[in-house]
Amino acid sequence: MTDIAAFLAPRMNRFKPSPSQIASARVRELIAEGRDIVKLTAGEPDFPTPGHAKRAAIECMDRNEIRYTPINGTLEMRRAAQLKFRRDNGLHYGLEQITVGSGTKQILFNALMATVSEGDEVIVPAPYWTSYPDMVQLAGGRPVIVPTEQNHRFKMRPEALAEAIGPRTKWLVFSSPSNPTGATYDEGELGTIARVLLDHPHVHVLTDDVYEHLVYEGRRFHTLAEIEPRLYHRTVTCNGVSKAYSMTGWRVGFAGGPGELIRNMSKMQSQSTAGVSAVGQAAVL
Ligand SMILES: Cc1ncc(COP(=O)(O)O)c(C=O)c1O
Repeated sequence: MTDIAAFLAPRMNRFKPSPSQIASARVRELIAEGRDIVKLTAGEPDFPTPGHAKRAAIECMDRNEIRYTPINGTLEMRRAAQLKFRRDNGLHYGLEQITVGSGTKQILFNALMATVSEGDEVIVPAPYWTSYPDMVQLAGGRPVIVPTEQNHRFKMRPEALAEAIGPRTKWLVFSSPSNPTGATYDEGELGTIARVLLDHPHVHVLTDDVYEHLVYEGRRFHTLAEIEPRLYHRTVTCNGVSKAYSMTGWRVGFAGGPGELIRNMSKMQSQSTAGVSAVGQAAVL
């Protein structure tokens, strides 16, 4: 019998499976056993996908628009993402600067896999969504974790960011509102982070804005490339519909960023899942 451990590629030892997915699977098992469980595992809204989105999916199937889709997303979907970025975030992207993936997760994965190699560093403020460091390690890079403090509302201090940046830093992965802390940076706080980044032109920014619409108590959402236009040319702004519209299972995410980088993110996707489900994109539209 094959020794599977020896058969596996060394890259399989560089990362762990998603702990939140493992916990979610265990929760499903316990619920199936009839246990009454409060789920605090994956970030999932407790309301259904809006009816008009579900109907759009059914209409898409009825029209038999069920074929392969372009790798970077249907034209309609990219136009919708373009409009969303302009309307909600003041970010202007050409259609060739937008790509669509199977969830924000795949978009982040594509970006890291397309750019990070052996010895590259990626800064991740902690506490973080569990997948960031594992994706960096899978790509061959080294996550550089920047701790934050409770008495600073779990927000990264600009000095801590400056200290973490080195010559091999490729990316800052940044998420506000944050999973798991909910930390939401205001305009001024984003400005102080942006000022550090302006001093280090080799550092790119991967913003994960998937929680954009989950802001409370009068706070307003802002994203880095909007706050500091000089970062636009080195920022990939990632977003999706999972949290905002309770569409976690539909698996659609999108990003805007520098055209050449976006093209290479699509290239990465072209040899894995290819284009996102036609039905999912129709619902998201
Ligand atoms: C911070 C963060 N980013 C990305 C994702 C994944 O989002 P999507 O469902 O769009 O792949 C999650 C899901 O839990 C998340 O918490």
